Amino acid sequence: MVDTFEISVNKVAESRLSKVDFDGIKFGRDYSDHMFMADFYDGKWHDSRIVPFAPLTLSPANVSLHYGQSVFEGMKAYKNANGEVLLFRPLVNSRRINISAKRMCLAEIPEEIFMGGILELLALDKDWVPDREGTSLYIRPLLFAMDEYIGIKPSDTFRFMIITCPAGAYYSRPVKVMIETHYTRAVEGGTGFAKAAGNYGSSLYPTKLAQEKGYDQIIWTDAKSHEYVEESGTMNVLFIIDDILVTTPTGDTILKGVTRDSVLTLAKDHDLKVEERKLSVVELIDAAKSGRLQEAFGVGTAASIASISNIGFQETDYKLPVEMLWAKRFTTWLDEIKTGKVEDKYGWIMKV
Ligand code: COI
Repeated sequence: MVDTFEISVNKVAESRLSKVDFDGIKFGRDYSDHMFMADFYDGKWHDSRIVPFAPLTLSPANVSLHYGQSVFEGMKAYKNANGEVLLFRPLVNSRRINISAKRMCLAEIPEEIFMGGILELLALDKDWVPDREGTSLYIRPLLFAMDEYIGIKPSDTFRFMIITCPAGAYYSRPVKVMIETHYTRAVEGGTGFAKAAGNYGSSLYPTKLAQEKGYDQIIWTDAKSHEYVEESGTMNVLFIIDDILVTTPTGDTILKGVTRDSVLTLAKDHDLKVEERKLSVVELIDAAKSGRLQEAFGVGTAASIASISNIGFQETDYKLPVEMLWAKRFTTWLDEIKTGKVEDKYGWIMKV
């Protein structure tokens, strides 16, 4: 429920835009001038507002700090050749945050608040959307519990916020990944399908261990047997084996990625055979050994398509071919749609 939806706007006295080095954008370091906020209490969303980007004041007893009752989304805005701002499939994120919210006992966000907040924020901070090739404005909606109570129960009060930051390439080179067979990202019945904060927090330590071994990221395997491939780092992971695009089906333990879905659609439209099926580590390593594994790449909003150069398994490092034909094609096709260079026949673009 929404308490008459109007957004109040309090603009910054002075923009920080001129201080940003748009030639050397680093992901998640510079935040745009304004942020959106709304509060949920008494069973309704209230006080939708845009205010200058600034620290929050939170009670030390804030329940999301203690118990991680918090979810987020990731999406991007691009500029077309006319300088207009384009959003890529924002309604999918609007729906997905509520799937995550339900799992984490958070109040759902009506689409009018989610989209109204983004559109109003982008109208105000449109000059923060970079236009150089490979750049975008990353949009981070987040929703968290606000009760000041450290007993364990679902919160009754919540905050929804949107912050944005200019983004360049997330990875500057193809990534080296290690197949993880001890630590687990997600279990059946758990929160793997949701963008729950804790999924990301708990991945940090295993990833740090992999990085100490010279890898950038992990390929997660299933929690029960560690025999099947699930995701890679914070991305869905796709493989080209024998000219077929193979990826694990989404479900309880796998996020329904927007980039994943877009790539699968593009693949089918370009006559690349797609198999959404379980992929065992044994099959993957056999394919790597015999040269039938032609490509591997992670797909996600922040990184878009992240080519994989090496896969580590049981102390052996398997080097992949450097050609990365399909990864490059998908990157180009997606970029062309996102920046309005080609006709959007899928209806994925929303103009701000
Ligand atoms: C995204 O791709 O939007 C993500 O969720 C990755 C993020 C944790 C950096």
